[in-house]
Amino acid sequence: MTKRSDSIVLIGPMGAGKTSIGKRVARALKLPFVDTDAVVVREHGAIAELFAERGEAHFRSLERQAVSDALGNGGVVALGGGAVLDETTQRDLSEHRVVFLTVAPRVVATRVSGSKRPLLQGDDSAQRWTEIFETRRPIYETLADATFDTSHGPLADIVTEIVAWA
Ligand code: S3P
Repeated sequence: MTKRSDSIVLIGPMGAGKTSIGKRVARALKLPFVDTDAVVVREHGAIAELFAERGEAHFRSLERQAVSDALGNGGVVALGGGAVLDETTQRDLSEHRVVFLTVAPRVVATRVSGSKRPLLQGDDSAQRWTEIFETRRPIYETLADATFDTSHGPLADIVTEIVAWA
């Protein structure tokens, strides 16, 4: 692979396991780990409240900044599921090794049920997840250098596969 950066960036839908897998991949590769959602929360407060009080566009601009900082610092970086919608981020990602974590809808339903994610509130959250995922899937696929399905198997096996790929 001819990408300049040593960073590995994890993209994919809500519930794909970007944070839990990213932490383990970082530990295995002895790289720092950053979760851009966690950075936004640390610096600006809970995501559900940011959406409710300031709107999604405001959250996206905070997210864009967190992503840009994280990519600049390097390591293993887990992006929020919607961070790839931003065109600057899409361009920035071309410099990095990008891993798309995908997951089957029937598996994700249990992972995200009862979550505080503002885009998945209400009774039809599973259907909403699927709609959002189908809209974004072409972007994930275009940006990805490698794709791993997290629907089955122990997390440790997926981590091992990613580390071997990296
Ligand atoms: C979002 C995904 C969330 C978080 C926010 C919006 C999205 O991150 O950034 O709730 O638009 O898909 P995770 O993918 O880590 O759940």
